[in-house]
Amino acid sequence: MSAEPDRLSPRAYHDRTKHQLDRYAAGPGTLDWDAQPDPFRRYADCPEFPLALTTAPGTVSFGDLHRPGAITPAPVDRAGVGRLLEVALGLSAWKQYGPDRWALRCNPSSGNLHPTEGYVVSRGLPDLPDGVYHYRPDQHLLEQRAGFSAAATASAPAVLLGLSSIHWREAWKYGERAYRYCQLDVGHALAALAYGAALLGWQLRPLTEWSDAEVARLLGVDQPTGGAEPEHPDLLLAIEAPGVASPSDAESWLAWAAAATWRGRPNVLDPRPLYQWPVIEAVSQGTTKPATPPLPAFEGVAAPCLPAPEDARPAVDLLRQRRSAQAYDPAGTMDFVAFRCLLDRLVPRVGVPPWSALPESPKVHPVLFVHRVEGMTPGLYALPRHTDARALLLGALDQRFAWEACPEVALAGGLALYRLFTGDVRRVAGLISCHQAIAAQGAVAFALLAEWTPEIEDEPWRYRWRHWEAGALGQALYLTAEACGLRGTGIGCYFDEALHELLGVRDGRLQSLYHFTVGHPRHDTRIQTLPPYAHLRRD
Ligand SMILES: Cc1cc2nc3c(=O)[nH]c(=O)nc-3n(C[C@H](O)[C@H](O)[C@H](O)COP(=O)(O)O)c2cc1C
Repeated sequence: MSAEPDRLSPRAYHDRTKHQLDRYAAGPGTLDWDAQPDPFRRYADCPEFPLALTTAPGTVSFGDLHRPGAITPAPVDRAGVGRLLEVALGLSAWKQYGPDRWALRCNPSSGNLHPTEGYVVSRGLPDLPDGVYHYRPDQHLLEQRAGFSAAATASAPAVLLGLSSIHWREAWKYGERAYRYCQLDVGHALAALAYGAALLGWQLRPLTEWSDAEVARLLGVDQPTGGAEPEHPDLLLAIEAPGVASPSDAESWLAWAAAATWRGRPNVLDPRPLYQWPVIEAVSQGTTKPATPPLPAFEGVAAPCLPAPEDARPAVDLLRQRRSAQAYDPAGTMDFVAFRCLLDRLVPRVGVPPWSALPESPKVHPVLFVHRVEGMTPGLYALPRHTDARALLLGALDQRFAWEACPEVALAGGLALYRLFTGDVRRVAGLISCHQAIAAQGAVAFALLAEWTPEIEDEPWRYRWRHWEAGALGQALYLTAEACGLRGTGIGCYFDEALHELLGVRDGRLQSLYHFTVGHPRHDTRIQTLPPYAHLRRD
């Protein structure tokens, strides 16, 4: 048996975890469904701080989230932070089918396995003691992992949000490819937080200069776990709003955290793991982020967004009703207004969620499989998301593609949609997405192509960042689909090289990181839907 490397580069990991038409990436041969990992991480022996639940949808519409300055900022306090967590990482429903019952959350996750954990680090808030808190979505409460004496914390109010991943949650089911899914899920979670912050009139700024080790130290996920599955640090986001400071330097936060009293024992999620996937730890090691100089602020398009048909509905309702379709009406046609709006909301805009919460400027570009859209010829299309990306894609994709601009889909910021190939691409879309009918039966399917620049080799943590962008694009598609009366589904299972061959991707300069589909959903009436927090009584 050959020894596994203890550190893998993004390229080595990515190539190794490609699904091929004749061979899936290494994963478990059998799954013991009765021994699924516990879906919720808990920290025992921590003071608990329950958060209020939203009782009324409020006056902010989904469209308001897309109009910078339209929402009067809410105070940054315990109620506001609770509302943000509820609509971003909280439960959205329970589902029941026969004896099986499972929770869904506002943020989606591959296989509904939810590797992403949320944290709040707060100082100087009026009604939440200074500390580091782990968010428990099942109970909608904060577990205080670290507390501070008042003397240590006489500074202006400031709040950071943190994300970490428990890789085992995904690896349990998906084996070696699971690391990709964890990163896509981080992208969804950070985008969900950006939409939630916008609801309160707040912005999120990613603290890109921090090292992973520093993030781990601040969140306390570097502490011994006593045999529980470890959490890997992902990123911190500063809440920006009137009246709060946003000190981003690691030094002052870490000095503060070093003076804290830490508590809490994490629960073991899977007491009898059947397999081990050392490659996950190896790529995690190979993509660890050191401290780096701050990156330039996000630059995006300033033009207003196009309205979506259901933009006037309460934002809270839309954020909570997001779901994945399990099946689509194969005859359902997307109307042109919805199609244009779907693309418009992928344009990176300043002050519009989720874009400025991302660490990098746009590097991920959708290729569309248009099946049934009113007024659009079926075929393959490309949407380069920055003005230089057209040339990049043109050089990297099949030289026979037509690259015909579609003036009917004029987009802001000088961006445009291009028709590459005309024809029925339903069969190939389904085949490439691991034979999943949803990619053929939706009205449009997407393949999200990431620029594989030399930066990824030099700064391998950007491999994660590119997945986060792809996940954030997925979240924008999920929510915009809802605002258009449609439904989306993320697709992590696809045959990488078959797609690259279809598109004629040369030299590995582009790599598909995520697929997606949108259309008219078919509902499974056998599955019962129950409210998310009926089990909590907060009288
Ligand atoms: C990264 C990612 C990959 C996914 N891949 C697939 C997929 O290949 N096929 C599928 O049917 N659903 C896929 N999904 C949808 C999840 O199964 C779904 O999000 C999860 O079951 C939770 O349900 P919800 O989205 O309705 O909350 C994916 C979701 C994410 C976020």
